[in-house]
Amino acid sequence: MLCWIALLAFSCDSSSTGGSSSSSSKANLDPDVESRIDGIMSKMTLDDKVGEMTQLSIDALSYGEPYQLDEPHKLHLDKMQEVLVDYKVGSILNVGGHAYTKEHWEEIITTIQDYAVNKKASGIPVLYGIDAIHGTNYTVDATLFPQQLAQAATWNPELSKIAGRVTAYETRASGIPWTFSPVLDLGKDPRWPRLWETFGEDVHLSSKMGEALVKGYEGDNNEIGDKEQIASCMKHFLGYSVTMSGKDRTEAWVPERMLREYFVPGFKKAIDAGSHTIMICSGEMNGIPVHTDKKILTDLLKNELGFDGIVLTDWEDIKYLYSRHRVAENDYDAIKLAINAGIDMSMVPMDLSFTKTLKKLVEDGEVSMSRIDDAVRRILRVKIKLGLFETPVTSYKDYPKFGGEEHAEASYKAAQEVITLLKNEDGVLPLSKSGKYLVTGPTANSMNYLNGGWTNTWQGDKTDWNTEGKKTILDAVKDKVGDGNVTYVEGTTINEAKNISAAASAARGKTAAIVCLGEHTYTEFVGNLEDLALPKAQLDLVNAIAKTGTPIVLVFAEGRPRVFSAVEPKVKGVIMAFLPGNEGGRATADVLFGDVNPSGRLPISYPRHVNSLVPYDHKRTAMVHTDFSMEAVNPQYPFGYGLSYTTYEYSNLKLNTEKWDGKSPLEVSVDVANTGDRDGKEVVQLYTTDYVASITPSNRRLRAFDKIDLKAGEKKTVKLTLDARDLAFVGRDLRWVTESGKFAVMVDKLTQDFELIANDNLYFEE
Ligand code: BGC
Repeated sequence: MLCWIALLAFSCDSSSTGGSSSSSSKANLDPDVESRIDGIMSKMTLDDKVGEMTQLSIDALSYGEPYQLDEPHKLHLDKMQEVLVDYKVGSILNVGGHAYTKEHWEEIITTIQDYAVNKKASGIPVLYGIDAIHGTNYTVDATLFPQQLAQAATWNPELSKIAGRVTAYETRASGIPWTFSPVLDLGKDPRWPRLWETFGEDVHLSSKMGEALVKGYEGDNNEIGDKEQIASCMKHFLGYSVTMSGKDRTEAWVPERMLREYFVPGFKKAIDAGSHTIMICSGEMNGIPVHTDKKILTDLLKNELGFDGIVLTDWEDIKYLYSRHRVAENDYDAIKLAINAGIDMSMVPMDLSFTKTLKKLVEDGEVSMSRIDDAVRRILRVKIKLGLFETPVTSYKDYPKFGGEEHAEASYKAAQEVITLLKNEDGVLPLSKSGKYLVTGPTANSMNYLNGGWTNTWQGDKTDWNTEGKKTILDAVKDKVGDGNVTYVEGTTINEAKNISAAASAARGKTAAIVCLGEHTYTEFVGNLEDLALPKAQLDLVNAIAKTGTPIVLVFAEGRPRVFSAVEPKVKGVIMAFLPGNEGGRATADVLFGDVNPSGRLPISYPRHVNSLVPYDHKRTAMVHTDFSMEAVNPQYPFGYGLSYTTYEYSNLKLNTEKWDGKSPLEVSVDVANTGDRDGKEVVQLYTTDYVASITPSNRRLRAFDKIDLKAGEKKTVKLTLDARDLAFVGRDLRWVTESGKFAVMVDKLTQDFELIANDNLYFEE
């Protein structure tokens, strides 16, 4: 069989030793940095080393109890001495309960680094990490961006890159050089409570957005020592998002074929983009907690993918190996399993048990010194590259743009492209600015529901730290049409009726009712759900208003697509705002009243039925049995869908060849015309399908896309290219392969067949 490219074995070899990074990654290491590490490590004791591998929460350094720190927050100097000097803990994370001011951050980080650098013998600075996932969301008055799923709806990676850059700047302004972002788990299950933290259900879109965000955080050349860049942390490797139950941190069963074809590529792209750290999945996959899976952590991640950065546990996950997963009896066994599998740093996160026990494991010969040295080398590599030895603390005083107008504008621009128009019957939208409106529903007058989780607090459910002056949807609608033309009635909370009949009476005689629905704020297990349908109270609100005959426009602010098919026929307009962030209210009103022509497109399938949660790239078997009055795959709105206030016409889909040898790129071109009377942005989406393949081909797969500006009446020819690798799938022998044969390229409603004629199948590396 002809193989064009030498291939690495796909079935991971469990006999390979933990601890070494692949030769390919070694080739990329900077010799100056490596020799500096040699110098530092030559002076380090075992205590220094196990300390470096420990990460504790700020709780462990503060007055109060873990999870319940005293207010106002204050560092406890005795604890600092014990943790940072006596036990030499190398990394601290998190915030104690709620966002801090940038001044308080500076005080905290300065004090911590003073202990690490001046009081600890080795003088190695601390690596502080934070969940800055949609802006620097744990610093008061930082710029808050749309959450990741919302960003994916823009189909504009450049906007995510800008979000990353601003976040890097403002995180450095808070004295912190490391964010636990992006999430690269594929959002294939709409029930999952972290769906909104993902870039959606498609591998290609998610990989492109993830790559852009990494570059935004780290810089085009990953110059993380620059004081305006930070280190990123890809998470949660691997298979986290597809639990059987749809609930957080429950079991997942993912065959290797699927793992490699769907779940590895997003991480691979970000590793190739230079991301410096990675966090491991808290769950268990195929009966093995990922934190103990050497095949995943060492063979695949470090050796095959060549990752040379820090492999970090998620929260308390080594302890969970005995308290939850039951693959170990105690801390000793759990730490041994995890470190030998390839973990470099443990997010313990509250006590010194890991540090003490790891030392004992080394002394007992259960963990090798070479494994420890590999981990410490990786940690020091990141600390050196971040410039922490030279500048352990950055000061907010050097970051005048923190939380300012320029950054708010970047968030606003992104939010404008997030807003996705899903229904516009009888051209109900855009609404007239001279009308009178009812604004109602639980998400109409809340900044928290626009921002979601990880906003000032973990769950994002407190209002105390919200940025002053930001506009809810209600505020922004009032700005468009004047206070006197808006009646606001809450109608319902997220789950309970409040004054539905008052809302219905207020709807009478109005130009339209803007009904703002959605979800409460949540993340992780707190967002586990029993029913994906929109809560009954919200459906009741729509039904009651529908009876008045006033046209209804629904606006969803939600992290998951809550099923609302029961009322969908009763509404004229539907807008999906996702979790658009602090500027999302303004952006929503811009679209409602036509100041912005919507250009968001769904990065997920919006389901119609709670038992039909099939992603768009399903197999053809998902569509059979329609003859027996069963519905084929029929989402409420498909992946990639979104309307505009103008119209686009596609024509002239052409390939440079219909008999392709797969050696040079296949060039695809298509004409796109704006045939309406408004300027707009269109997302040109290119899908392919394989007619016949040795593994059942997907119905269609997104292979390329481009977001273009088109003026009213303008026509452009869009060119996209495909490599043979773009059509590859993971075959029966677990190798990436593109098989010769017939394919179709699909753009909008146009289809063009071509044939790949190679002498044999084409194989590719991971
Ligand atoms: C979450 C991670 C997060 C970490 C640190 C965990 O519970 O799963 O996504 O980065 O906490 O806050």
